[in-house]
Amino acid sequence: MNTTYQPEHEETLDPEDWDLARGLGHRMIDDLIDYWKTVRDRPVWKRPPDEVKARFHEPLPEKPQGMQQAYRDFQDLVLPYPKGNIHPSFWGWVDGTGTVFGAFAEMLAAGMNSNLGVADHSAVYVERQVISWSKEMLGFPGTASGILTSGASEANLIGLLVARNSVANTDVGNYGMGNAEGRLTLYGSTESHSSLIKAADILGLGKEAFRKVPVNENFQIDLGALRAAIVRDREQGHVPFCIVGNAGTVNTGAIDPLDELAELARAEKLWFHIDGAFGALAALLPEYENKIRGLSKADSLAFDFHKWLYVPYEAACVLVRDAEKHHHALAVSADYLNPQARGMAAGPEPLSNYGIQLSRGFKALKVWLSLKEHGIDKYRRLIRQNIHQARYLGSLVEASQKLELLAPVSLNIVCYRYNPGGFDEDALNRLNQTLLAELQERGIAAPSYTVINGRFAIRVANTNHRSRREDFHRLVQASLAIGEAILCARPAEAVV
Ligand SMILES: Cc1ncc(COP(=O)(O)O)c(C=O)c1O
Repeated sequence: MNTTYQPEHEETLDPEDWDLARGLGHRMIDDLIDYWKTVRDRPVWKRPPDEVKARFHEPLPEKPQGMQQAYRDFQDLVLPYPKGNIHPSFWGWVDGTGTVFGAFAEMLAAGMNSNLGVADHSAVYVERQVISWSKEMLGFPGTASGILTSGASEANLIGLLVARNSVANTDVGNYGMGNAEGRLTLYGSTESHSSLIKAADILGLGKEAFRKVPVNENFQIDLGALRAAIVRDREQGHVPFCIVGNAGTVNTGAIDPLDELAELARAEKLWFHIDGAFGALAALLPEYENKIRGLSKADSLAFDFHKWLYVPYEAACVLVRDAEKHHHALAVSADYLNPQARGMAAGPEPLSNYGIQLSRGFKALKVWLSLKEHGIDKYRRLIRQNIHQARYLGSLVEASQKLELLAPVSLNIVCYRYNPGGFDEDALNRLNQTLLAELQERGIAAPSYTVINGRFAIRVANTNHRSRREDFHRLVQASLAIGEAILCARPAEAVV
């Protein structure tokens, strides 16, 4: 190891040969275009083989391998074994599909390598415009504030942080939770996303402070049970501070009665936060206006761009109705960050005063360019297409004697199972776990799973702009064929 500094041999990480870099860059784009164009011809998912996994134990490179070799390693070890979420038959978790132009935008953003924490530069204005457009899309007032985040998990955390610091009876922002009078509690349905529970923990409230309220047969929060839980907590000296509404639950896509929740929160003087990770963007559709009307009444709203706006990972947003409260909860004065009268730091309010990160990437560019590329009406059509495809799948399931729908299809999620009759619940759970694994391992389709009323469900969440009706038809055919094959090859006792 050379430890001497040699001024006559100063170095840089820029390429020695710019033409070589240009050629490789062009090749990478050509390779990606081919990769995208042929995605339908490949299996949805392929497990990385052991010999490939072993390569990830190679030691830290001491000597240069060069761009070309490094790229070859990417081609051999990384690119062939993706999660599969750019594939038309991927419907697992709530993974977004990404877009071609969105990927180009990521390259441009990385090329600029903008850091959006502080200072007056173009990228900050792009993000501010994306926040303004988001307010417009989701019915928030122009005076509201917002910030782009890594995902809805972080957006939920920020929403709940502002809620906690704004509503708490004592100044927990400055003096910590130990200073709060009484236990702060918040409320959401049993279907609320795990990120909200995690946020309660991170905020020092404790996971148990998130009161899980039962749901009705449509998986929407039970308003009576919610009211009773608030009363019960107050009677015990606790301090309810926030109601969380779901605009699209992760399990089934259920939309809570947001209007009623907004009203209740107002009457009880509680903060109203909405987790609209994917469902919020259904508000773009006039036909969902009634169902999702309460969205614009939230004090804070979390939603993702990387799910139902289809942009590549990562990009989400939190909007907060009262910009001052948002700022108060997250701005910290520091000599090296405070605005200056002139120069680079004389720009707009630093975005970092509204979020957790100081250094922040240029996530906004892919959203900004995508909205310009397609216009919002195209997104309306695609979201509508995904909802109709989900309904189509739901109708195929219902029409089949051997498949069973496990929850109403209220948005873009379908939960079903293979149930030919004659099996108990445990056997059906195991049968469907095997069926799902077969679908995934054979690369046919990639739904994920959940448990609905104790029943293992094959769960299809459709935020995929590449899917076609025929893909859902094929999923149903494959589910039936594999279900039958499992039973033939392995009689009931083997499954049980
Ligand atoms: C309803 C809901 N909320 C929150 C999240 C978390 O979002 P992210 O994965 O972007 O952090 C998800 C993710 O699927 C979700 O479905």
